[in-house]
Amino acid sequence: MGLADAMRLITRRLEGAFTLLAVDAREPRTVVGARRNSPLVIGLGEGENFLGSDVVAFIEHTRTALELHQDEVVEITPDRVTITDMKGLVVEREPYHVDWDASAAQKGGFSTFMEKEIHDQPTAVADTLRGRIDDRGRLQLDGGIIHETVLNSIDKIIVVACGTAAYAGLVGRYAIEHWCRIPVEVELAHEFRYRDPVVGVRTLVVAISQSGETMDTIMAVRHAQQQGAPVIAIVNTQGSTIAREADAVLYTRAGPEIAVASTKAFLAQITAVYLLGIYLAELRGNKFPDEIESLLEQLDAIPSKIQRVLDTSEPIRELARTMANERTVLFLGRHVGYPVALEGALKLKELAYIHAEGFAAGELKHGPIALVEEGQPVFIVLPSPRGRESLHAKVISNVQEVRARGARTFVIAEEGDTDAANYAEQVFYVPSAPVLMTPLLSVVPLQIFALELAAAKGYDVDQPRNLAKSVTVE
Ligand code: M6R
Repeated sequence: MGLADAMRLITRRLEGAFTLLAVDAREPRTVVGARRNSPLVIGLGEGENFLGSDVVAFIEHTRTALELHQDEVVEITPDRVTITDMKGLVVEREPYHVDWDASAAQKGGFSTFMEKEIHDQPTAVADTLRGRIDDRGRLQLDGGIIHETVLNSIDKIIVVACGTAAYAGLVGRYAIEHWCRIPVEVELAHEFRYRDPVVGVRTLVVAISQSGETMDTIMAVRHAQQQGAPVIAIVNTQGSTIAREADAVLYTRAGPEIAVASTKAFLAQITAVYLLGIYLAELRGNKFPDEIESLLEQLDAIPSKIQRVLDTSEPIRELARTMANERTVLFLGRHVGYPVALEGALKLKELAYIHAEGFAAGELKHGPIALVEEGQPVFIVLPSPRGRESLHAKVISNVQEVRARGARTFVIAEEGDTDAANYAEQVFYVPSAPVLMTPLLSVVPLQIFALELAAAKGYDVDQPRNLAKSVTVE
């Protein structure tokens, strides 16, 4: 019996999720693989072939990839790839080209991938925007189709995602509800199907994932589809499971994200959700063409503003280098600043292993303020003074509340916000932007803070302990 036959025999008896690879010691040039509910992608090279859980694994060697479907067996040698089904019948499949530049998977002069990816962010946003909207103002999806009549009839959107991708969904909720007047729920993918959600043909499910292989999100997508809901995927990795299984896909064009902690994918995900919101607003007649144009112009202006945040990041780096001994850092935000606070806290936990919590600033007096004692660092994402009436003043009063209890207050504020400096120990300014665009800027200093603090502690910022880039198990 050959190795591929043995693999078929074994996998027939297995249950659950797995990716298996096997080599026969007598034939070391042949590798056999199989997968079920877990990723395995084939890379086609010149005189060499590859197997990886993600195209990132072999992107520096080849950009030609082949999908392996559920319950298929692949046999690779340096010059041959054969896919067979469970009966042993050969499956013919067209390879696909991965658009990523191989150099994008290298550090490009930076000392870590994390640092490089933070600096990639202006490009990630610009690339995600590029060429998306046709002459009629309609969004160009990258694959699949959800008919306009379906999109016109939806009465609810549910975003399913995990971790940073879920925070991108939270940011997107403010924009989509404001632009399209459609209710948006954001659900952690692993909670979604267990709460027996109310989902049907008029619910648009938006699955956000960098890897496209997060098992919790895959299972949420399948659950939604079983209930008849159309699913749009916002995914970074071409050919990934979520991209394939969704009814339509909008790729973020962040390029390969190698560092385990997500940075550029987050900004690209917000950008893509915004594009979806703008598209729905146009399609459903919530916005006039000139309003759509103005929103697209606002997005177009963001990459150069992110660059300015990067170019002026030394003060927050300096602060981070002094805080290596902190035990807890709190983050507060309101409206779109709230998910930014959550993301700032997540980055700090992941990279610097410091306890960090993000709170909605309005929640402070309902409990979290009890945590504040002398010397407690608190980051506050201050809303624009030009935003919704009184929010700026309310968050300023939160700054005063925590400062009065001894907190060290570090504020992310918009350039020109002269009030901020009167209340904070230190202010980090980001360029001014329309309210809904501000998360694309205000999160960047927080990413840099976490990176620099972790580096000051001597930690591996690309591979934080206990974490995997793709979480392929539930
Ligand atoms: O690949 P995905 O975007 O689906 O991953 C989702 C989360 O696992 C991911 O964002 C995770 O929270 C990162 N470690 C955040 O930095």
